[in-house]
Amino acid sequence: MAKQIFEWDYSTYPGAKKYPHLFKPIQIGNLIVPNRIKYAATEENLNGLDGFITDSGVAYMRERAKGVVGGLCFMQGVYMDEKRHGQGYVGQAAAWDDKYIPGLKRISDAIHEQKAVAGFQLMDCGRVGAVEVEHGHGPSTVPQRLRIFKPMIEMTNAEVKEMIQQHIDTAKRGIKAGFDLVEISGIVGYLISNFISSYTNRRTDEYGGDIKGRMQAVVEIIQGVKEVCGTDIPVGIRLCSEELLDDVRGNTPEESMQSYEIAEEAGADYISVTLGWQESIFPVISRDIPMGNWIHLAKRAKEHVKIPVQMAYRLFKPDLPNKAIGAGELDIWEICRSMIADPLMPKKVFEGREEEIRHCVACNLCLARLFRDAPMTCYINPVCAHEADSNFMKPASAEEEKEIMIVGGGPAGLECAYVAAQRGHEVHVYEKKEELGGTLIEASKAPYGDDELWTCIEYQKVMCEKAGVTFHLGTEVTEELIEDEMPDSVVLATGPIYSKGKGTGFDRENVVNVLDVLGGRAEVGDKVVVWGNRKPGIGVALFLANQGKKVTIVGKEKSAGFDVNPSFKWRYMIYLRQNGVMAYNDCDIEEINDEGVMVKSYDGYRWPVKCDTVVVSEREPNESLKKTVQSEGIELFVIGDALVPRNLSSAVHDGYRIGIRI
Ligand SMILES: Cc1cc2nc3c(=O)[nH]c(=O)nc-3n(C[C@H](O)[C@H](O)[C@H](O)COP(=O)(O)O)c2cc1C
Ligand code: SF4
Repeated sequence: MAKQIFEWDYSTYPGAKKYPHLFKPIQIGNLIVPNRIKYAATEENLNGLDGFITDSGVAYMRERAKGVVGGLCFMQGVYMDEKRHGQGYVGQAAAWDDKYIPGLKRISDAIHEQKAVAGFQLMDCGRVGAVEVEHGHGPSTVPQRLRIFKPMIEMTNAEVKEMIQQHIDTAKRGIKAGFDLVEISGIVGYLISNFISSYTNRRTDEYGGDIKGRMQAVVEIIQGVKEVCGTDIPVGIRLCSEELLDDVRGNTPEESMQSYEIAEEAGADYISVTLGWQESIFPVISRDIPMGNWIHLAKRAKEHVKIPVQMAYRLFKPDLPNKAIGAGELDIWEICRSMIADPLMPKKVFEGREEEIRHCVACNLCLARLFRDAPMTCYINPVCAHEADSNFMKPASAEEEKEIMIVGGGPAGLECAYVAAQRGHEVHVYEKKEELGGTLIEASKAPYGDDELWTCIEYQKVMCEKAGVTFHLGTEVTEELIEDEMPDSVVLATGPIYSKGKGTGFDRENVVNVLDVLGGRAEVGDKVVVWGNRKPGIGVALFLANQGKKVTIVGKEKSAGFDVNPSFKWRYMIYLRQNGVMAYNDCDIEEINDEGVMVKSYDGYRWPVKCDTVVVSEREPNESLKKTVQSEGIELFVIGDALVPRNLSSAVHDGYRIGIRI
């Protein structure tokens, strides 16, 4: 007899009417889940270095549990071996001993408090593991392709059996800790996928050979975990549908589909469709991959198994999974990064508040942080990983109401504006253009998905309007205006100024600014030098290269894209190469002349680069108005690129942090 843990009635909610397929129940094993939403397992490095759950981890999960409005909410994958070969992240939760059960129970309790269904995930990180020890363990010792991962040792037959038992024992602990489902993670190059793949499994015992042999360990894990879970606790598995490892003779799609069928036969109650490995040379989740790109893989999975099929991967907006579920191509909408960026994302969909969603911009900073042993943060969500801090989560009302003048309606100014207004201040945003958005108006025109950055402004505008912020568009703030208004506080969020350059010739007519180029206001010749090798320089270089121009970057940083996180930077490096863009790094422009530019490296070499146009993307802090505000004795804050030119993330984080303390 199937059971439902919590009752939910969605019938009166606008989101349930707009997206009917997302808000209808589904049976997984013997469990009825009231909707089709799942927060997918997500490491966040918020646990203790000993693997124990912390207050931050519990608070993080509580918010995500609110978000799924009664759906599935999975905690991160836990590692299961005391020797820590399977540990992939310094702050990964451990569950190799009963001593971890009370901490894990805090997570399932926090999920249940929100009337959501609690999922427990088993994840031995295999080739991506051994973060605290010398060697990773796996089916065979195939050398690593990525330098950040540890060398591998081959597990003996006895060690494979021990690993299988660890999965079973850990599942038992998850059940004792109160979880409602158990999931086995065979995602992106972790141990389970290492066993299944022909790339990494070269064994000759019963755990190697053809796909049946390579699935043997997985079959024993599924069967053993099913046995301890009994009839009431479903057991699912995340498995690769496409490894994207053809260049190293990974599994064929046919073998991957066979692995799904074998998992179903072994007793799995659902399949979560994943794709790609850390070691694949193709991107799967960065911003340059269109949303909905991978749904066909869920559809294909459904042609091979009868059990429910779940999938995430760039399904950031509800219409995509709603349509796919309606068409029978998918059963459950998995969500990871969109709920890192906005934990309440599906709840807002459900309540008809979609315009209040802070959208993930698929930059992969969250992942980059994990792989550099840092607690997760989100590029666009300043509250992420601060859920346990009440002032971050729900900023306190202002002790005294102030009149605040915010100069600049870009992402830093708008973020600060709505947060300060929500706290009870009277907030005025002055923007000299007729439009809000600041540098993002132009920056979001750069190619390979940068249009998604604009979602930040859309969100902030809505939040400002709801919080009662007053906008003064087409109004340049001058000394006189400040003296007339005499606000209690001024926040300078004017954006950067574009550098004039120390060399000669920067005043020539063929020297234009990055914003004018992206905004279509500048004339640009066929041969272009972009001055500046940070993200704005790369964005405009690719924009121009896509128009067929010959582009060269000259920049001061040691490497191009120095300010882009490594989990996205590799995409830009490929696009620069594909578009024939040459980057000279660690150097500067000494002179702009009739022929082009003279480049000078910091070790004294000089060489010419021919061009018709020079595009300036080097930026400096914007000090204007600072002295006026200070001389009037007005409280002053400088945020975003006006303080130090950085990126959208710094603008948003600065804005939020000043908004909560002003
Ligand atoms: C920061 C981060 C941590 C993740 N941790 C896990 C994990 O613990 N277990 C797992 O199976 N997948 C993990 N994933 C993969 C996600 O669950 C998800 O499948 C993937 O991010 C694609 O979905 P998305 O496009 O909605 O982000 C992680 C992904 C990210 C970005
Ligand atoms: S860090 Fe970037 S990819 Fe990760 S959730 Fe935030 S916006 Fe999305």
